[in-house]
Amino acid sequence: MPLFGLGTWKSKAGGALETSLRTAFECGYRHIDCASAYSNEDSVGKTFQEVFAEGNVTRDDIWVTSKLFNKDHARVRDACQQTLKDLQLEQLDLYLMHWPAVSGCEGPTLKPSIKETWQDMERLVDDGLVKSIGISNFSAKKTKDLLSYARIKPVANQVEVHPYHRNSTVVEFCQAQSINITAYSPLGSNDSEKMFGREGIPKILDNETVCRVAAELGWTPAQVLLRWSLQKGFATIPKSTNPQRIIENIEVLGLELPAEQFEKLNSLSFQIRMLDGNFTTGENTPYPTIRELWDDEV
Ligand code: A2P
Repeated sequence: MPLFGLGTWKSKAGGALETSLRTAFECGYRHIDCASAYSNEDSVGKTFQEVFAEGNVTRDDIWVTSKLFNKDHARVRDACQQTLKDLQLEQLDLYLMHWPAVSGCEGPTLKPSIKETWQDMERLVDDGLVKSIGISNFSAKKTKDLLSYARIKPVANQVEVHPYHRNSTVVEFCQAQSINITAYSPLGSNDSEKMFGREGIPKILDNETVCRVAAELGWTPAQVLLRWSLQKGFATIPKSTNPQRIIENIEVLGLELPAEQFEKLNSLSFQIRMLDGNFTTGENTPYPTIRELWDDEV
């Protein structure tokens, strides 16, 4: 998996997304992170086709990830086929279970269970619809449970990670199990402020240490955060539809954060999960609160 990718969550389908994908391919991105829940896979697929037809980038040059959404656990194959149709691809490089949650579940038990959903995802690998499978937003506890029965081990767990949410329990568990950590929202998930009513929470891009390190090195604060993410061993997938930022972000592949500055970012005391997944919780459901969703891990 190329360790640097373009996120597409919140990228509105249409011209701006298509232009941003073109910019990304031109400046060297080879990993695109998608999901059916982002409601823009048809736009991504249209651009893939155009770019492939132009001949500078081929299907084999790129890594495409997509995700099974919570409403689709009882129809894994159909959902995957719809994503393939929208993305205009024969096969995905990686298909993730987006959340360990099923829409509309009443009572304490997930239906289908995570095990049943995973087994359906394993069949997608058997049948060649996807090359590999993985998980997203899984705690260490839920990952460990899945490993107890998985015939095909998840290759990655995509979770929120940045210096304001180091997410150490799951990161350390997965890394010890050789499960790649893909860091979503490596710039601190600032959009959660508006989307999920998280106003007033300090922003990592404004953090004094991050800004000081950026000034010392002559980088932008975003570049400091992205370099930290890569040097932690994560795949990192910042979203942007701004061509200038798309270029700025991938420039980190040619940079190196010195050990001293890297360590400073490893020890910021303020910690917060911005995307807390509260939309998967509710009374009389498998996750009454976010504590059960994340198994109290921080
Ligand atoms: P934009 O698309 O306008 O660049 P995510 O948390 O899903 O990865 O989203 C990243 C957020 O950070 C988006 O709001 C994106 O907005 C913004 N962003 C991306 N790159 C940069 C950058 N280099 N500097 C500041 N903000 C950025």
